[in-house]
Order: sequence, then structure tokens, then C-alpha cells
Amino acid sequence: PTALAGRHFVKELDFTGEEFRGLLELAAELKAAKKAGTETRYLRGKNIALIFEKTSTRTRCAFEVAAADQGAATTYLDPSGSQIGHKESVKDTARVLGRMYDGIQYRGDSQAKVEELAAHAGVPVYNGLTDDWHPTQMLAEVLTMTEHCAKPLNDIAFAYLGDARFNMGNSYLVTGALLGMDVRIVAPKSYWPAQEVVDRARELAADSGARITLTESLSEGVLGADFVATDVWVSMGEPKEVWDERIAALGPYAVTMDVLRATGNPDVRFLHCLPAFHDLGTKVGREIHETHGLESLEVTDEVFESAYSVVFDEAENRLHTIKAVLVATLA
Ligand code: CP
Ligand code: NVA
Repeated sequence: PTALAGRHFVKELDFTGEEFRGLLELAAELKAAKKAGTETRYLRGKNIALIFEKTSTRTRCAFEVAAADQGAATTYLDPSGSQIGHKESVKDTARVLGRMYDGIQYRGDSQAKVEELAAHAGVPVYNGLTDDWHPTQMLAEVLTMTEHCAKPLNDIAFAYLGDARFNMGNSYLVTGALLGMDVRIVAPKSYWPAQEVVDRARELAADSGARITLTESLSEGVLGADFVATDVWVSMGEPKEVWDERIAALGPYAVTMDVLRATGNPDVRFLHCLPAFHDLGTKVGREIHETHGLESLEVTDEVFESAYSVVFDEAENRLHTIKAVLVATLA
């Protein structure tokens, strides 16, 4: 068994900086082994339940392919396909699934729910996104950064632009703080993470040596950044009505070529957890195009499709990093 056997991953701070870096190293090894065709199947005979109360492409597929590569089986429970929350409590669901499965992934709105699952399942529980945190995504973010920047992790600077009060903004802030990085949150003040998240990040930074900046100034926030990251302005579960206020407030923080130039770094790279509104060709995008006349939202198509963009490496890395979490906690 590894040092992380049996552990939950419901938020970034379930692991120390050293443990988090250990997962990144394991992910890099598993990635190399898969590419070389030499992957060892550490999870033969294991079963993993995947509860999704919100929709997903990357997270679901990453868990399913990671499990299959490692010899484990999965059961996908879709937003309407289980009794959880409708007819059966989270606590009872945890105790039922914990008798059948070796690990449980949960995606939904409430962090309290995934923590309640973890408290009662008796097997590792993984947070595949809640409104508060997206911890498995952070492993992919940081693995991608290490692949595209030769600096030691604690010298890397990244700027997150956009709505920083939700899962991605919170997770970027605490992850950067945990790993001793140079973290910039660049957004209108009303879109900064909650004070308790900022306080926690500052405490972590005091130990890790992280530099933390929260600023409304785009030019100050991105100067010298190795990575510029953003996320959708309206997250899953939020009402359509907030689009107007988000577009007004966050429009100036959209990632454009000018923003990348303002870093002063010719090697800057662009990150996005995806899905992204870089063009408005999707169903939701078309509605916004019709009502607001915009061509893109949080990132321009020019940036998204440019050589600066490493978003598909990042998406692929969901697989390798989620596999590392499964192997480390279940093997
Ligand atoms: N980045 C991410 O979590 O994507 P999905 O919503 O498709 O899982
Ligand atoms: N903030 C986004 C992230 C999607 C991966 C959401 O919660 O919808």
C-alpha cells in the first residue's frame, strides 16, 4: 500500500504540499507508462462508483478510462439515476455504496454532501467538483504547468482571471498557496474568493513561501505571469439571469491577445479547465450571441486556438492525474 492508501480527496487541503507533489510525480510516471505501453494494472478487481448530480465530459471520462486502464470497473450514476438526495439520504447512500465499492466519486453542488459521503462510506471518496472546490482538476492544472514551464514549481507565477468566488477560483488560490507558487487572483473585488478562503491561503503561504496577490488591476495582475487561466463566468447550477451582470463585470477580464502580451512573457501559456466559451457555437453560446451580440466570453477564439493555449494537454492530464489519485488511494 502507498502512503495515501484509504485517503479521501474532497478538497485540496486533504493533502499536504508534499503529498500533492507526490501525486503529480505518480501521475507523470503513469502517463509515461501508458504512452510507452508498459502500464502496470494496480487496481485489478476494484470497483468504483461515479455519482454525478451535475453533468460532465472530462471528469467522468477520466475516471472511467483511468479505472479501465488500471483493471478496475466503474458504475456511472447519472443525475437522475440514483436515489441519492431524492429518496435516500447521503448518509445511507454512503453506507450502501461503501459495502459494494472500493471508492466513490461524487460531483454535485454541495461540499457538505461530499464530506458527508466521506464521513460514512468507509472507502475513499473523491470530489469530482462541488460549488466550492475542484481538487482533481487542480492536479491536472499543476501537472500541465510543470510540463510547459521549466522553472521549479515554487517559482511559477499564474494569474487567474474571472469569477474567483466559485470552485475554480477557490481551488487555484489554495493550491498555489499550498505549493508555494506565485498566485494572482485578478477580478473585480466582489468576485474575489470569500475572506475565509483568502485567510486560509495566507496561512498556507506563510509556511510554503507562496506569494499571493488579489487585485482588480489587470496589468499588475498578469505582469510576469507564466500562465494565464480563466473559467466560465456562469457555472453549472447558476441561473441564466446572472449572465448580464457577469458580462458587465467580467468582460474587461476576458483573456485576449492583449492580456497575454501584458504579461511581458513571450512563453506565457493559457489554461482553462473547459468547457470554454471561446466561440459561441454551442446551444448556450448561441443564445448569448443572440442576446448580447458577443463573439466570445471569457477567452477569445484567437487565444484559445493559438500556440499559447495548452488546454487540451490539460484536459488529457485529467486522465493521468485522476489515475494517480485512484492508484495512490486504492492500490
Ligand atoms: N473540467 C471539467 O471538470 O470538465 P467536465 O465538467 O467536462 O468534467
Ligand atoms: N466553474 C465551472 C467549472 C466546470 C468544470 C462550473 O462549476 O461549472
